[in-house]
Amino acid sequence: MNNRWNEIIYKLWSPIYDKLFNSGKFLEARKKIFQEVKFVENQKILFVGVGTGADLELISHEKLNITAIDFSNEMLDKAKNKFKDSSIQFFKMDAQNMSFKDNQFDVVVGSLVLSVVPDADKCLKEMIRVLKPNGKIIIFDKFSPKGKKLSPLKKAIRPLIRLLGTDIGLSFETLYKKKTKRVYL
Ligand SMILES: C[S@@+](CC[C@H](N)C(=O)[O-])C[C@H]1O[C@@H](n2cnc3c(N)ncnc32)[C@H](O)[C@@H]1O
Repeated sequence: MNNRWNEIIYKLWSPIYDKLFNSGKFLEARKKIFQEVKFVENQKILFVGVGTGADLELISHEKLNITAIDFSNEMLDKAKNKFKDSSIQFFKMDAQNMSFKDNQFDVVVGSLVLSVVPDADKCLKEMIRVLKPNGKIIIFDKFSPKGKKLSPLKKAIRPLIRLLGTDIGLSFETLYKKKTKRVYL
């Protein structure tokens, strides 16, 4: 995966993304996460790879200070359209190289993005860099099963799925072990 390919593939996904990934089991999982998360008024929250804004639909965003980034214009346009009357700030930005200063956000949310960016390690480092000390990172993704090898079927289809814009073989434990700065998950 590289940024150019992701731009092409998510342009193609954008018209049908919500039907596939903002419904059924994905929507159930999202709802579960955001029911448990308690945001505090005026908190600065960053949504990394916000896509069509599926997560934003599940939170009361009015009293929060929300910034959202994505690398696909078409995915961003979908989100912007849904929230055109809100104060949410949307930017086209590479999650692996964000233009925010260090220690800016109280909460950083990354849903289904670490498995998509070309370099997940770089992306997670950036998420940690822009997070305030004692801030929280919320990650929702489909990592490979903890402590287990990928099944032969998943191994076989992994390259094809990557072409479609996501990796089903990323290990969160491996990714997390490489981090040195404090992070509360
Ligand atoms: C699977 S979608 C997830 C979207 C949304 N977070 C959700 O949960 O529905 C992955 C998103 O990451 C975005 N993306 C891919 N590479 C990126 C990058 N380098 N920087 C920022 N966003 C990126 C894609 O454009 C796409 O919108």
